[in-house]
Amino acid sequence: MSMSFAGKVALVTGAAAGIGRATALAFAAQGLKVVVADLDETGGKACVEAILEAGGDARFVRCDVTRDEQVRALVQQTIEAYGRLDYAFNNAGIEIEQGKLAEGSEAEFDAIMGVNVKGVWLCMKHQLPVMLAQGGGAIVNTASVAGLGAAPKMSIYSASKHAVIGLTKSAAIEYAKKGIRVNAVCPAVIDTDMFRRAYEADPRKAEFAAAMHPVGRIGKVEEIAAAVLYLCSDGAGFTTGHALAVDGGATAI
Ligand SMILES: NC(=O)c1ccc[n+]([C@@H]2O[C@H](COP(=O)([O-])OP(=O)(O)OC[C@H]3O[C@@H](n4cnc5c(N)ncnc54)[C@H](O)[C@@H]3O)[C@@H](O)[C@H]2O)c1
Repeated sequence: MSMSFAGKVALVTGAAAGIGRATALAFAAQGLKVVVADLDETGGKACVEAILEAGGDARFVRCDVTRDEQVRALVQQTIEAYGRLDYAFNNAGIEIEQGKLAEGSEAEFDAIMGVNVKGVWLCMKHQLPVMLAQGGGAIVNTASVAGLGAAPKMSIYSASKHAVIGLTKSAAIEYAKKGIRVNAVCPAVIDTDMFRRAYEADPRKAEFAAAMHPVGRIGKVEEIAAAVLYLCSDGAGFTTGHALAVDGGATAI
């Protein structure tokens, strides 16, 4: 499989922590220049430090993906810094503890949809023209297994991730003849701060989380990073508009 990434430029949102951070590190380890974008300046700068210490090339740009002008500036700064944008991993996302659907609030709905859906849409809106002008690129958006099926007590989150897959598929078709591939990665439960906030407080929940995956454990951030790198690589040259479950078998049940 071809993973010839040398000299290429990647942009990762939500890269201060968890899946985004692991993917930024994995891109850098393959020789890519990486723009680390996040709301969290401390975590974002620490990610850049880790990349620089390992001999890579990266810079941090603070960006709230829900703000059009900030996403526009993020893409602009990527071009100013590195001259191009080959791969984008639109991964910033939030989960807010929810009850059943009728218990949800408008504020929860707006917050989750704002980051998870509008954020991904804005990122692609500003990345695609750059990739079009360059003659190609690849985008991976973070959805979730909650975007592939029902997620009780996570209805707004589930709807937001279904929407990410809708945006992904539509963009993939619209730009398929322009050398731009657009795919989504759909993790099941992965060991990140988001997981710990949702599950760790209650040991029964943590046990349940492990048991819901046929492999008998939750996933590692590096396992999602590997899938993202594959989807960006030339080896996935015939793969576009796909929502790839990386889920320890959870959706095979
Ligand atoms: N951890 C899981 O079990 C799991 C499962 C399926 C999907 N996901 C998805 O994976 C993605 C990454 O999740 P994670 O588990 O690494 O979470 P995390 O909370 O560890 O990291 C998310 C990062 O996104 C950043 N972020 C949040 N809002 C932002 C905004 N408006 N603008 C810019 N950055 C923002 C946060 O500061 C944080 O650094 C999310 O889209 C999440 O929905 C996670």
